[in-house]
Amino acid sequence: MTGKTKNAASIMLLCSAIIFFAVPGFSQTAGKKAESQDGPPDTMTWTQLPEGHQEIPLEGPCMMCHNYKVDATTTATKQMVRIGKQLDKEVLWKRISDYLEAGKKTKTFVLGTSLNNIPLTTSCDWMLDPVNKVMYAFFEIGTEKLIHVRENPYVSLNHHKPWENNFSTVLCIQVRGKADLFDGSRPEFKKAVEVSFPGLPEQNRKGLMDRASKNMVVCRVTIEQIMLFDGTLLGQHMSSYQMWRRIPTFTPSYFSEKK
Ligand code: HEC
Repeated sequence: MTGKTKNAASIMLLCSAIIFFAVPGFSQTAGKKAESQDGPPDTMTWTQLPEGHQEIPLEGPCMMCHNYKVDATTTATKQMVRIGKQLDKEVLWKRISDYLEAGKKTKTFVLGTSLNNIPLTTSCDWMLDPVNKVMYAFFEIGTEKLIHVRENPYVSLNHHKPWENNFSTVLCIQVRGKADLFDGSRPEFKKAVEVSFPGLPEQNRKGLMDRASKNMVVCRVTIEQIMLFDGTLLGQHMSSYQMWRRIPTFTPSYFSEKK
């Protein structure tokens, strides 16, 4: 790989907000071969391979052969929604739940919070409730992230598989939602313990409840949107970007407009 493609590869693999908003959009003329130019045409997407595309090694980035059509105003999210082949909402939810082993195991996410425009990221373990589409974590009392969430409940979380030098095995799950904090005095606390510790024998449950309700705070995130990057979909002529939204009109600015 040249330095340039290496750079490009590392940019593409980032599962951060950068990738979602900084990758090129496309215009109506995208994908048409420029008349003066030989070789592969400029493409309007790198998240979906068209049917009949030549066999390519998915270890390398699409920009080994293609240039992207850039349109400065369309975000990658809008682009993906407009042109990508999307899974049905239920099928997508099931896929995400399976990846996160919802109701069975916790998964490590990086939690992004922001207070007075100063961001903070914290790694923590979350259990997905596949029915109510909320996530639970237990936090020790008195931590900085709690101050953030109390002041500003709008959060973003990210779970990803480490990069394996292969685009077809990339897995990133980016969540946006609203966090709610509560301690043992709230009736929802019991539900949080039930969902988060499914294998816990009944005789241990009470002891855990008592201690957790004194020492821990539950953080419950109501999921509004999940952006999945699933590299396995590349080989299936589907968009590797898939977006699940609780309500179809959700946009990130929905949070600020709702206040
Ligand atoms: C080894 C070189 C190579 C790689 C790597 C490659 N492509 Fe292509 N691609 C081509 C060529 C050549 C064509 C033109 C084929 C044709 O004209 O029939 C093409 C055509 C396309 C087109 C149709 C463009 C149009 O509108 O005419 C799309 C979309 C596309 N590729 C997407 C991708 C994506 C997404 C990736 C990465 C996952 C990728 N390609 C990786 C060589 C490549």
